[in-house]
Amino acid sequence: MIDFSGKKGVILGVGNPKSIAWSVAECLHKYGAELALTYLEDPKGRFEKNVRTLGEKVNASIIHPCDVQKEESIPSLMDELSNKWDAVDFLIHSLAFAEQKDLGGSFSASSRDGFLKAQEVSAYSLLPLSAGIAPLMRNNGGGSIVTMSYIGAVLAVPSYNVMGPAKAALESSVRYLAREFGPENIRINAVSAGPIKTLSASGIKNFSTMLQGVADHSALKRNVSQNEVAETTAFLCNNASSGITGQTIYVDCGYNIMAN
Ligand SMILES: NC(=O)c1ccc[n+]([C@@H]2O[C@H](COP(=O)([O-])OP(=O)(O)OC[C@H]3O[C@@H](n4cnc5c(N)ncnc54)[C@H](O)[C@@H]3O)[C@@H](O)[C@H]2O)c1
Repeated sequence: MIDFSGKKGVILGVGNPKSIAWSVAECLHKYGAELALTYLEDPKGRFEKNVRTLGEKVNASIIHPCDVQKEESIPSLMDELSNKWDAVDFLIHSLAFAEQKDLGGSFSASSRDGFLKAQEVSAYSLLPLSAGIAPLMRNNGGGSIVTMSYIGAVLAVPSYNVMGPAKAALESSVRYLAREFGPENIRINAVSAGPIKTLSASGIKNFSTMLQGVADHSALKRNVSQNEVAETTAFLCNNASSGITGQTIYVDCGYNIMAN
């Protein structure tokens, strides 16, 4: 069994119990990790309420707001982490955003604002988060950062539109960050998950049809589960993967290797 006792880490992207980030939190808690969770502030406080309720289930030591679009938000999170913890072992970046109007229709008609917003939230945010967490990882002699990607980074997936270039930028950023932080033993990898029914996914047109199509054309003839993605994420945060960095690891029941 993977042992995370004495390890501490922060997970960004828990929105509700269906979030991939929540499965990662449950998995890392099961293996003994101490967790910090963040939530996105929204006018009705739905995310905060969800994350506080879920946080109790994994004994989260820190629950802090973080909106990666707000300039002060990431430094505030890092202050909170360094006030409470001497060091951090892992950071999970499981967040993305695209306007509904940019998920479907003609890709070439995507708005400039929508394209840039998808890039900013879904890809750029990994840079300041990595730079912010690096000093706390250095205190430990290294650490692991894992982000969530999708095959739309490398294939033109119907309706995925602006999220495709955002995930391509994310996967490329993983390689550049791995190169930058590698000398400090900080590893950065992406997990490219198969489609999973979550709140974000529900914004993609015909998502249920996509789920069936992917199951039919995957090597394992089924869809992947949140827990399978979480277990691979835990592996990437653990010493068992100490030689792996800058990679995009597919956890998609073998969909990406199939020719049809
Ligand atoms: N569900 C899938 O099919 C699938 C497949 C592959 C990859 N992914 C990726 O997994 C990650 C998690 O998505 P999910 O499917 O669990 O959906 P989700 O809706 O549960 O999670 C997305 C999270 O992003 C957060 N977020 C959005 N804007 C933010 C901002 N400005 N600042 C901080 N947080 C913000 C939301 O609060 C939410 O918690 C995303 O990167 C997504 O692209 C999802």
